[in-house]
Amino acid sequence: TTPLRLGIAGLGTVGAGVVKIVQSHANLLAQRSGRPVVITAVSARTRARDRGVDLSAYAWEDDPVALARREDVDVLVELMGGSDGPAKAATEAALAEGKDVVTANKAMLALHGQALAEAAEQAGRVIRFEAAVAGGIPVIKALTEGLAGNRIERVMGVMNGTCNYILTRMESEGLPYETVFEEANALGYLEADPTLDVGGIDAGHKLALLSSIAFGTRVDFDGVELEGIERVSIVDIRHAADMGFRIKLLGVAQMTGRGLEQRMSPCLVPAHSPLGTLEGPTNMVVLEGDSVGQVVLRGAGAGEGPTASAVMGDVMDIARGCRLPTFGQPAAGLATARSARASAA
Ligand code: NDP
Ligand code: HSE
Repeated sequence: TTPLRLGIAGLGTVGAGVVKIVQSHANLLAQRSGRPVVITAVSARTRARDRGVDLSAYAWEDDPVALARREDVDVLVELMGGSDGPAKAATEAALAEGKDVVTANKAMLALHGQALAEAAEQAGRVIRFEAAVAGGIPVIKALTEGLAGNRIERVMGVMNGTCNYILTRMESEGLPYETVFEEANALGYLEADPTLDVGGIDAGHKLALLSSIAFGTRVDFDGVELEGIERVSIVDIRHAADMGFRIKLLGVAQMTGRGLEQRMSPCLVPAHSPLGTLEGPTNMVVLEGDSVGQVVLRGAGAGEGPTASAVMGDVMDIARGCRLPTFGQPAAGLATARSARASAA
């Protein structure tokens, strides 16, 4: 049987986690997909760094674009991050070379996902991004597979673990925002640019991706009404608690008579509702379908193991030959997507 050959660009938290799963679960992955899943080449900025994994069997590329173009790579696994720069260049190069792409890069997809979906569609390739929305929670697969027979009426969720950690610590310890922000920083929770977290931007990226899939629309990050948690005070949190509510950075997307509404902002949620019971750096996504009703998914939205788990779910889909486009509205429409699938098959 033909192995599926991965090229991994980015060997940080998530990349190292993916290498560990491929190495430790080789038999299980082969049994479940019917073919070996192997890494052939890797790339990162610093070759000499010890990443806690043995990389000696893999070819090394300094340049992620060169990695994406290698003949012995079938799938680019992009785990570098950044909305532009090498992540986007390597993704475009992979698609142009007729390779599939798996990425966890919500920033890149929220800003360029539509154009990348078009490129993938034209090349008859797929771009998969389960890890980009709510980390380890398989919410994209829930929408595209398990709930495929439903009209989705609303998607909601807490999709930034750092903000949930800050808000719940402010409440439980009575600490001001600035103090808990520093604590989150010391724990390594914050993105390199913390505004992405506390400004609601990272969660807004995730909501834009999720609503595109749920409602079959183009990815529209500019259409997300955004407000972060920087101005939430301990007084706000206490008043909310007195009334039986908690404050959560909540994303809500729904289709209305005026079109798609997407909002990411601090909201009051009843303390005893599923969203109200969410503690610490955790995520929760609530999906509402016309037949199924409400489905609640809760789990780790970040971290090495959970995020690598979601990346591997996408890799396994590709290994099994699943070629359905993920985005709600692939660029040129479903007819083109179907013919691309037929010619790729
Ligand atoms: P890290 O910062 O830990 O790792 C980034 C990796 O990319 C590093 O290995 C770095 O190399 C490499 N890299 C950066 N720039 C280049 C370049 N120009 N050329 C080659 N390699 C490069 O990031 P994470 O693992 O945390 O995140 C990866 C992606 O996953 C991001 O898109 C992030 O948003 C997403 N994600 C992360 C989650 C998490 O919990 N960490 C959760 C969900 C999504 P070097 O090591 O040599 O510096
Ligand atoms: N900074 C993000 C969070 C990482 O806190 O949820 C996972 O996307």
